[in-house]
Amino acid sequence: MYKVSLMDHSDLKEAYEIEKHTNPSPWSKENFFSSYEVGHKSLVCRIDNVIVGFIIFSVTNKEIHLLNIAVHTEHQKKGIGSLLMETMLKQASVMGVLKIYLEVRSKNEKAILFYKKYNFIKDAVRVNYYTGENSDDAVLMSLAI
Ligand SMILES: CC(C)(COP(=O)(O)OP(=O)(O)OC[C@H]1O[C@@H](n2cnc3c(N)ncnc32)[C@H](O)[C@@H]1OP(=O)(O)O)[C@@H](O)C(=O)NCCC(=O)NCCS
Repeated sequence: MYKVSLMDHSDLKEAYEIEKHTNPSPWSKENFFSSYEVGHKSLVCRIDNVIVGFIIFSVTNKEIHLLNIAVHTEHQKKGIGSLLMETMLKQASVMGVLKIYLEVRSKNEKAILFYKKYNFIKDAVRVNYYTGENSDDAVLMSLAI
C-alpha cells in the first residue's frame, strides 16, 4: 500500500505542498527546491501514486543531519513517518553512519515524541534559535547507531 522511493525532481512541487501545510514554520519554496539541487538525500512515501510524506537528510563523514520530515495532515499517525524514518535508518546502516542528529522546535511536541520513539536523546537547547513570528528554542537531538 505505502511505497517509499527516492524523491525525484518532478516530485518537488507535490512534496512542497505537504511542507507548506504541515511544518510549523515551513521552508521557503526556494530553500526546499535548492535542498534537492545541492544533493541532499530525500525520500517520498506514496499511497496510490499520491505523495503523502517525505524525509530529507544530508550525509557527511559518517553522520546524517536529518533536515526535514513531514507527513500530510490527513495521513499522520498511521505509521508513514515511521516508515520514512526506518528506511533512512536502514540506508544509514548500509552507509556505515554512526550518528544522526537534528534540530526541532521546542514547541513541536508531536515531533519530539516521534524522535523519542526512535531513541533520539536530547543533547542541548539553543535558546531563541528560531527567530521571527514563531520564535522558539531549538532542541538538539541525536541518535547513535
Ligand atoms: C512528526 C511527523 C513526521 C510524524 O509522522 P507520523 O506519520 O504521524 O508518525 P507515525 O504515525 O509513524 O508515529 C510514530 C510515533 O510518533 C509519535 N507520534 C506521532 N504523532 C504523534 C502525536 N500526534 N501525538 C503523540 N505522539 C505522536 C508516537 O510515538 C508514534 O508512535 P505510536 O503510533 O506507536 O504512538 C508528523 O507528525 C508531521 O508531519 N508533523 C509535521 C511536520 C513536522 O513537525 N516535522 C518535524 C520537523 S523537525
